[in-house]
Amino acid sequence: MLEKETLLSPGRPEAPRTQKRRYWLHLIGLLAAVLLLRFICDALDAVSWGGYEAWMVAQCPQVEPLVPSQKTPSLREMDNYLASNKFRNESIARMSGAVQVPSQSYDDLGPIGEDKRWDIMYEMAAYLEKTFPLVHSALQWEKVNTHGLLYTWEGSDKSLKPTVLMAHQDVVPVAEATVGQWTHPPFEGFYDGEYIWGRGASDDKTNLIGILEAVELLIDAGFKPARTLVLSFGFDEEISGEQGAGRLASVLVDRYGKHGAAVIVDEGSGVYGAWGSTFFVPGVAEKGYIDVEIIVRMPGGHSSVPPAHNGIGVMSELITMIEANPYEPRLYSENPYLGFLKCGAAHSPEFPPKLRKLLPTHRDTACHKKDKLALEAAKAGDLIKYLFTTSLAPDVISGGVKNNALPERTRVLVNHRVNIGEHSSDVKAKLTDLAETVAKKYNLTVHAFTDEAETPLSISLKAGPLTLEPAPVTPTSVEGVTPYSVLSGTTRALYGTDLLMAPGLMPGNTDTRYYWDLTRHIFRFNPGWDPKQEGMGNIHTVDENVSVLAHIRTVQWYSMFIRNMDEASMA
Ligand SMILES: *[C@@H]1O[C@H](CO)[C@@H](O)[C@H](O)[C@H]1NC(C)=O
Ligand SMILES: *[C@@H]1O[C@H](CO)[C@@H](O)[C@H](O)[C@H]1NC(C)=O
Ligand SMILES: *[C@@H]1O[C@H](CO)[C@@H](O)[C@H](O)[C@H]1NC(C)=O
Ligand SMILES: [Zn+2]
Repeated sequence: MLEKETLLSPGRPEAPRTQKRRYWLHLIGLLAAVLLLRFICDALDAVSWGGYEAWMVAQCPQVEPLVPSQKTPSLREMDNYLASNKFRNESIARMSGAVQVPSQSYDDLGPIGEDKRWDIMYEMAAYLEKTFPLVHSALQWEKVNTHGLLYTWEGSDKSLKPTVLMAHQDVVPVAEATVGQWTHPPFEGFYDGEYIWGRGASDDKTNLIGILEAVELLIDAGFKPARTLVLSFGFDEEISGEQGAGRLASVLVDRYGKHGAAVIVDEGSGVYGAWGSTFFVPGVAEKGYIDVEIIVRMPGGHSSVPPAHNGIGVMSELITMIEANPYEPRLYSENPYLGFLKCGAAHSPEFPPKLRKLLPTHRDTACHKKDKLALEAAKAGDLIKYLFTTSLAPDVISGGVKNNALPERTRVLVNHRVNIGEHSSDVKAKLTDLAETVAKKYNLTVHAFTDEAETPLSISLKAGPLTLEPAPVTPTSVEGVTPYSVLSGTTRALYGTDLLMAPGLMPGNTDTRYYWDLTRHIFRFNPGWDPKQEGMGNIHTVDENVSVLAHIRTVQWYSMFIRNMDEASMA
């Protein structure tokens, strides 16, 4: 007792009045320090620092156009042919033929070999074999898990890591009820003089056919790669890719080792116009994913003598609470949207001054206003906001079986897309907190993400089987020769230097989710662009189409990218 008192008030005890004054002095001192810090931060931000503009531009360096240097007469001829009407006509026929194979993948597909609906993929493979004879004679090709297609064009220099190009053969099913809404039947491959129509035209047959056309012509032109080229085509991307990409990726990691590939390009984002500039935004990250199943167990009984709150009422309260506590927009330093904002600030004439003021600058670390930036940027709308915000949506609900029986088991499924920089465990922790609050109120037990069996009077939380952390972010440095610099240089060679490159973020997931071990340099990117076509070609909906110009650009891009990667001085 005595010791404790000594510790608390060493020396002579002060009079109560002196103590009170000291307390106020401390408080005022602290307040003054905070205000001073605020003032210094604001002053630093307000000062127009001499090197600021140059520094800002350096935050988003643009590489020079990169054109393959090897120019044999037949390669020259090939490049001319790629720009010819003859090629255009042939390419239209090849694309149209590919769309005519209805390679739909259904959510409820059974095992391969048992469920006959998979067999359409045989037709797809046969179509490719017939259409690209040189690819199928000059390259090694193998089938992985029956329908996965893996092509290897062996390079002469084994010290170079391979370039991997991906696409998927399958398409989203066309619902019977929507067939009538199509201007042209979904599997006719109709060409209207400018566009090729049909399910899969832009997602993802333009890339599948585009890659094969590029390689077919390179073989024909006598091109001999130094760097191995791998083509990896899954067949169930639209239903999560486990059978296709999942198996192909592990074959490739076994073959080339962890981080054994130089680069991967798969389907993804394209061109995005903002602030008076046109950006190509290859996806360098993907958000995470977690479904959480919540189950409320409450006593049953006859509804003529109900308790004040039954399972449905309690679940409703929990859902209301979940929705009342959404995730804050947050721009973590690795989020590509922050990089995109910097590119806007560096190059775009109409970049909003308000956003510019909130961007992290060259001197601040302590004065970061990251979250204010995220909040301001989020005002551009939900499409933008969810590029840097974990989303939550209760999507499925059930409970109760009969009008005179109280619900004993009520279930809800809450879907989340996890922000870059956060983790599925953040989602779990937040939901556990909220469930505990409700549980306390109604005297229920919480089983949060454990294997324990459900008990009466409980709330159980379980993570769904598709949980996926946010993807590792692809490096976008252009110092020296990097995969991103080759990709950027190729794109600017094709489209000109008015077009800017900036890091992008995929709101959904692609087949690349299985390939994280194969390389850090993964780009989700649709290289074909027709300035006349707005939007994404109606993917996943009626009247999907691809512009022929965009498709031809796709072929040209792959052809150039393969050669540029071949000449790139990097492992
Ligand atoms: C391409 O097709 C169009 C329309 O069928 C035809 O008029 C044109 O002559 C063809 N061009 C070449 C070079 O084959
Ligand atoms: C809460 O539940 C426990 C057993 O589950 C019971 O012993 C206790 O009396 C309950 N308390 C209230 C306030 O209902
Ligand atoms: C093609 O897709 C675009 C979306 O990118 C859509 O606006 C258009 O109506 C579709 N059809 C044609 C012929 O462009
Ligand atoms: Zn796709």
